[in-house]
Amino acid sequence: MQNPGVEYFAQNDLPFLRSFDTAIIVNACGSSIDEYVELCKILNTLDIDGVELNLSCPNVKEGCMAFGNTYEGVKKVTEEVRKVLDKPLFVKLTPNVTDIASIAKAVEDAGADGVSLINTLLGMKIDIDKKRPVLANNTGGLSGPAIKPVAVRMVYQVSQAVNIPILGMGGIVNGDDAIEFMLAGAQAISIGAGNFIDPYTSVKTVIGIEDYMKKYNIDDINNIVGTVQMN
Ligand SMILES: Cc1cc2nc3c(=O)[nH]c(=O)nc-3n(C[C@H](O)[C@H](O)[C@H](O)COP(=O)(O)O)c2cc1C
Repeated sequence: MQNPGVEYFAQNDLPFLRSFDTAIIVNACGSSIDEYVELCKILNTLDIDGVELNLSCPNVKEGCMAFGNTYEGVKKVTEEVRKVLDKPLFVKLTPNVTDIASIAKAVEDAGADGVSLINTLLGMKIDIDKKRPVLANNTGGLSGPAIKPVAVRMVYQVSQAVNIPILGMGGIVNGDDAIEFMLAGAQAISIGAGNFIDPYTSVKTVIGIEDYMKKYNIDDINNIVGTVQMN
C-alpha cells in the first residue's frame, strides 16, 4: 500500500534485499489499470524474481470498488499487466467476495502464473464508550489466526477450480498451520501478521514443516499438496 514508490524501492531497498540468498517477489498495487501497467513496466526491468498484484486496492476511476471484487475486474487488470510483464506473475485475491473460485478462474484465464490468497477480511471495531469506530477509516483489514479457517476453505475451493499454483496465507503462525494450507492445495505459503507476534515465526514454521515430514516419513513436501481427503 502506501510506500515511497518504485524508484525509491529500486535504488534503496532492492540492493539490500539482494544481499540475501532468496527470491524477491514484489507486491504491487495501483489505483487504476494504467497505474498497474506503468508500475509493472518498471518492475519488469528490475532484478527481481516475480510480481504479486494486490487487487484489494480501490479502482478510483470506476467507483472505488476493489479491482479484485469481480471476474471482469480481475481479468482485465491481469491481462493488461501480463502484456508488459515477462517475469512470473502472481495475482493476490481479496476474500471479500461471494465466489472466490470464479475470481481465481479469472486470474488463470488472464494468463497469470499463480494465485495468492487470502488478503485481509474487512472488519470493524467499535469503542462502546465513544460509540465510534476505533479505526480512523471506520473499517479495516482483519488478519492473523482469526481468519485461518476462512483462508483454508478458500484455498481448498480455489484448488478445485484452477490448475495454476496457489500461494496460501491467512493466519499462519507455525508449521501445523502451513501443513493445513498445503493439504488444502497450496504449493507455497506466506506469513504476514505472524511476523508481528514473533519475528522468528517464519523460521519456526520451516522447522515445524520439517518435523511433520519426519513424523510421516515424507521425502518431498510437494507430495502432500492437495491431498486432503474430504469427508
Ligand atoms: C500490517 C499489514 C500490512 C499489509 N500490507 C499488505 C500489502 O501492502 N499488500 C498486500 O497484498 N497485502 C497486505 N497485507 C495482507 C497480508 O499480506 C496477508 O494477505 C493477510 O494479512 C493475511 O495473512 P496473515 O494472517 O498471515 O497476515 C498486509 C497485512 C498486514 C497485517
